[in-house]
Amino acid sequence: MDALDSRTDADAATRHALAARLDDARRETDRIFALVRAEALAQRPIPERHRLIFYLGHLEAFDWNLLCRDTLGRKPFEPAFDRLFAFGIDPTNGNLPQDTPSDWPAVDAVRRYGTRARRAVDEALATTPLDASAHEHLRGGWAFHIAIEHRLMHAETLAYLLHQLPYEAKTQGPLPTPAPPSPPRRMVEIPAGRARLGLDRRQDPWLGWDNEYDAHHIDVPAFAIESHDVTWNDYLAFIESGAYDDPAFWSAEDWAWKTRTERAQPLFVARYGEDWIYRGMFGEVPLGPSWPAYVSHAEAAAFVRWRGQALPTEAQLHRATYGSPDGRERAYPWGDGPPASRHGQFGFQSWDPAPVGSHPAGDSAFGVTDLLGNGWKWTSTLFAPFPGFVPLPFYPGYSADFFDERHYVMKGGSVRTDPSLLRRSFRNWFQPHYPYVYATFRAVEARS
Ligand SMILES: [Fe+2]
Repeated sequence: MDALDSRTDADAATRHALAARLDDARRETDRIFALVRAEALAQRPIPERHRLIFYLGHLEAFDWNLLCRDTLGRKPFEPAFDRLFAFGIDPTNGNLPQDTPSDWPAVDAVRRYGTRARRAVDEALATTPLDASAHEHLRGGWAFHIAIEHRLMHAETLAYLLHQLPYEAKTQGPLPTPAPPSPPRRMVEIPAGRARLGLDRRQDPWLGWDNEYDAHHIDVPAFAIESHDVTWNDYLAFIESGAYDDPAFWSAEDWAWKTRTERAQPLFVARYGEDWIYRGMFGEVPLGPSWPAYVSHAEAAAFVRWRGQALPTEAQLHRATYGSPDGRERAYPWGDGPPASRHGQFGFQSWDPAPVGSHPAGDSAFGVTDLLGNGWKWTSTLFAPFPGFVPLPFYPGYSADFFDERHYVMKGGSVRTDPSLLRRSFRNWFQPHYPYVYATFRAVEARS
């Protein structure tokens, strides 16, 4: 085999792997849109986000714009749609979008655009070099990899959106099964040690998003962390004590949000008389006491203040998740093997959380459970660049637009997170008053 053949073979292997992942990701987002009744695509289930029809166009526009229009210089076939569907929104100043359904194109036109964009992306993936001779954004399949992960992240955020759609606007689906009682609270001691956050740019230049670079160490003093996520049983005790409605446990900003939105409990639960119910994806059911409490950052912060504890920093959570008593860091809490269903509640297998502690095979080396899956874990760390951060050349605002001290880092993944996004360096972030995310938390205590 000469040098050209081996280069071509490596290129073909990358191409095939990317094509398979792109197919899987498209299948996942197609499956989610298939849950929505056609007329409901005009709805805006979350006031801070676009109407659903935007996302139908956005997933395809993002791929076409990034790969074909901007990288390969292909001529746009529907430039107005390229712009209309280019970027989502995340207003931080209370300025909610004011558009009406008639401001958007017909669903059929958006679907036709999507079909054409997919064909162009497939053709590009089949024919464009991905080796050292490629456009610098395509080397190793970099921009294709980013497009696939962008779609997978939307597969999750679309679930948040559809969760807030009225039940009659969706097809039917499974309801969560009844949950056992909540296990007793237990603190796990984590000795002082070093956490290695981030990705090494020289070692893995094409693997991560810009906010994952560069790798660096943080020395973490000894602390203790709850062995499992805070459950609804725990959180209802907080509400029923009256502390949820006591400004003493809230920051001024968080209390102003709670008052303004007239929030009497977290978004995912409701109270009918004496009974608490869970507002599931496809229906309401009695609240499972041992499910992780899905709450906003503001609600998590108030809870830990009430307990006299704290939310973990990103470095503390990282150390509890990947550290080990022998000082070595693992790729995943359970070891270095890839994620499997026995390790946690993630990967689109379920719409609902599992009782905490249901996946002991996924425990960390320190014996902390459910650190990946079953709900993102809030941290007290504001989203900010790691040392050596460089914005993505083809998507410079992906992270940098959110380094505004108004977003907090979450780690770990939810029931709707793709396993590829469970890698150690992956970071997610949301505003403290955005209550729609499958996000839970656990408390820490300082020990030094
Ligand atoms: Fe997007």
